[in-house]
Amino acid sequence: MKKQLIEIKEEALTKLESWTSLKELNDIRVFYLGKKGPIQEAMKTMKDMDPNERKTFGQICNQVKQDITKAIEEKKALLEEQAILDKINEESIDITLPSYRLSTGSIHPLTSIIDEIEELFLGMGYQVAEGPEVELDYYNFELMNFPKGHPARDMQDTFYIDDTLLLRTHTSPVQARVMLESKGKGPIKVICPGKTYRSDDDDATHSHQFMQCEGLVIDKHITMSDLKGTLEVFAKKMFGEKRSIRLRPSYFPFTEPSVEVDISCHNCEGSGCAICKKTGWIEILGAGMVNPKVLELCGFDPKEYQGFAFGIGIERVAMLRYGIDNIRDFYTSDLRFLNQFVRREL
Ligand code: FA5
Repeated sequence: MKKQLIEIKEEALTKLESWTSLKELNDIRVFYLGKKGPIQEAMKTMKDMDPNERKTFGQICNQVKQDITKAIEEKKALLEEQAILDKINEESIDITLPSYRLSTGSIHPLTSIIDEIEELFLGMGYQVAEGPEVELDYYNFELMNFPKGHPARDMQDTFYIDDTLLLRTHTSPVQARVMLESKGKGPIKVICPGKTYRSDDDDATHSHQFMQCEGLVIDKHITMSDLKGTLEVFAKKMFGEKRSIRLRPSYFPFTEPSVEVDISCHNCEGSGCAICKKTGWIEILGAGMVNPKVLELCGFDPKEYQGFAFGIGIERVAMLRYGIDNIRDFYTSDLRFLNQFVRREL
């Protein structure tokens, strides 16, 4: 009987050697270890054995069962591993094939310019502040020293929601909000980028919606030379190291004195061309020393604090930077225009 059991085991192990599918493995398990299998049949004879023989025979039966189970498990693990390897081989990727180009879109040129300006001013210790586009007349005009009926309001006509609420005409109201939040305590160094609106007629250089970036510095002992130095750094960073700037007297109710800032033309190096209208200079922004009246209205003591402010037209900078001659190109979402700014390396 014992010999028979050993033979059953040998037979099972031989089959395991040559049978190669998981299904065949299961058949072997069911056949040899199942209730109607040869081992179970052999075990039925145990009832007629004397106790000592039954014990030894029982141990042999269990040992044979364990050996077959172990061999099946090992073979199963082997077959499963082989199945995974076969799958990997089948699915192998040829990494030398050229890949599909991913369509990643691109950063809008106006966003790129704002990113660059932010990076520059953050590097000089400024913070970035934002304010609402739907603004109160109070912040947009009154705190900026344009009282009701002031003639300078005509230069910035806009879209009114009601008598007190409007679409902001410039980013300067963010100045007022930042100053009021500071409760009369300096220093303040912020830039405020964002969308602005005016009821200007649209043409090649004007849009009813455009973008500005305001700059504001408030501290003790701030002078016009701080403003000039800051704008020089800005001009060189945006348009090249060779650029110089000039300040022309101008008027804004919220700055005194006020200036228009021109940069030397990057196209003709100042000798005169179509871009600079033969003047050698291109106007890029308005600026000035914060009017003491504005400081006072926004909670600062003008005897203690001074400040400078500037307002950059983002489209203007982008048009000069990329040689774009129509401001509408920024807003018509024409892919032929936008695709020029796709990062080619991707
Ligand atoms: C102002 O808006 C002032 N708030 C700027 C300022 C801030 C001056 C702080 C002093 C101190 P101005 O109206 O000039 O100024 O506008 C600034 C820039 O916005 C212009 O140089 C121009 O580039 C841009 N801009 C104005 N109107 C339009 C428009 N309709 N379309 C496109 N860009 C415009």
